[in-house]
Amino acid sequence: MKNEKSADRNNTIICRCQDISLKDIEDAIDAGITHPEELKRFLHIGMGPCQGRTCGRLVLQILAQKTGTPKNRLQTTKHRPPLVSVPIRDFLGDENE
Ligand code: FES
Repeated sequence: MKNEKSADRNNTIICRCQDISLKDIEDAIDAGITHPEELKRFLHIGMGPCQGRTCGRLVLQILAQKTGTPKNRLQTTKHRPPLVSVPIRDFLGDENE
């Protein structure tokens, strides 16, 4: 049973862009990395093409559960250019032009 749980943790991918599993994150937290920005730097989680839009909330939830910190007290990581979503209307210009 323990091996099944371990296999699930290894196979549960949290950050698809960077191929980081639940086990990778939990191991990092167990090693003392308990801040979202530290996790980002240590595992490169949230540094893929989606810039953490897919995995960011999951990481906060895992951190909250593992550390017992209320989720609303954890800060999200910073989103940095150049990969930022741009609304299509920005390319279409103003209707009055
Ligand atoms: S899923 Fe984590 S950076 Fe995209």
